[in-house]
Amino acid sequence: MDKIRVLDKEFVPFLAEETIDLRISSLAEQINIDYAGKAPIFIAVLNGSFIFASDLFKKVTVAAQISFIKLASYKGTTSTGNVITAIGLEESLKGKDVILVEDIIDTGKTLSEFIPQLLLQAPASLRIASLLTKPDALKYDVKADYVGFEIPNKFVVGYGLDYDGYGRNIPSLYQLA
Ligand code: XMP
Ligand code: MG
Repeated sequence: MDKIRVLDKEFVPFLAEETIDLRISSLAEQINIDYAGKAPIFIAVLNGSFIFASDLFKKVTVAAQISFIKLASYKGTTSTGNVITAIGLEESLKGKDVILVEDIIDTGKTLSEFIPQLLLQAPASLRIASLLTKPDALKYDVKADYVGFEIPNKFVVGYGLDYDGYGRNIPSLYQLA
């Protein structure tokens, strides 16, 4: 594999397709064990997680549902700053076993603001599956239960993740050169 260009930036190979696939298989295996006899609902956060969510979901063998949301941030009217809302969440999560699916947890800000809102719906349980986490960038109290890879604090593209909207269709992960 060679380096690639997305818009004005160069990226080098980081995680190969097969490496990602193998890791997702073991995440799914763990989920199948943890949710045996249950029927979790996966809530995938668009856009970045769509490929991860799809590949993970295909390997889940327990009865399961999936739904897709977008998180929109707008300036709050109070001094607390930005408010995160979920667009597209139609079903009630009350009493459900929810698995929130993210592409990457960076500072953790997005999820730290969104999770309390999800909990207001009183799900039976809530766990987080994130393809990537950047432990060195984490600033908020968010912890994923199923982590694909802990990665260095470098920008990555591919496998659903974008640089300015491009690069999502690259089948493997690349890191900023
Ligand atoms: P926070 O800081 O709220 O950020 O955890 C999560 C969101 O930031 C974006 N993000 C990235 N996107 N490559 C990307 O393509 C990266 O390396 C990266 N780091 C953070 C992403 O949208 C994620 O949902
Ligand atoms: Mg994202």
